Amino acid sequence: MRIVVLASGRGSNLRALLDAEQAGQLGGAHVAAVFSDRAASGALAIAHAAGRDAVALAPAHFPSRPAFDAALFDHVLAAAPDLIVCAGYMRVLCADAVARARGRMINIHPSLLPLYPGLKPHARALAAGDAEHGASVHRVVPEVDAGAVLSQVRVPILPGDDADTLAARLLPREHALLVTTVRAVAEGQLTLGPDALAWRGNPLHAPLSLKGDDRLEEAAG
Ligand code: GRF
Repeated sequence: MRIVVLASGRGSNLRALLDAEQAGQLGGAHVAAVFSDRAASGALAIAHAAGRDAVALAPAHFPSRPAFDAALFDHVLAAAPDLIVCAGYMRVLCADAVARARGRMINIHPSLLPLYPGLKPHARALAAGDAEHGASVHRVVPEVDAGAVLSQVRVPILPGDDADTLAARLLPREHALLVTTVRAVAEGQLTLGPDALAWRGNPLHAPLSLKGDDRLEEAAG
């Protein structure tokens, strides 16, 4: 399975995927190329260092958002991905770009979706007084963080937490969630059909849950 990653930031989720691939823990999937909207992103440096195709496209060089996305997806699709992973990609994608990905694009978002789509999810979970927080891997649709959720991981919110301590507690579990979910897709356990998600051949009605031993389980009930 060929994976293309889109990333804007430091690239720790990309690094987790590359480390898993190297360790033989990604179900045979290969990260073929990485694209970014920021030439200075850590993700591109990580991709370069790993010997992967790493390309930056500057939004300022394009007349409009659709024109940027069209050029980006020309590159993405030229890399022939079976799966496109948004790992800290901070630009909202146009509906046309989403349609060109034909259901094979996923994103990791640091909240228990449908809670707190969009910006500052950690701070919003704290402000709401939640007892727990988490991350979700979901299918990308044109609406931000609104696609069907494949899998989630939960962490406790502890007294004295601020957005930084909470994000730091969640991040390693995010990495495990992304790696385990991508491996499940690569191994064919988790399938992203054009309409419905399936787990081991049956329709997936609720997000899979990542347990402490890094296994994905169906929700109880
Ligand atoms: C992660 O928390 C991801 O879930 C969010 O942005 C952050 C990116 O981190 N959307 P990194 O660039 O993978 O280190």
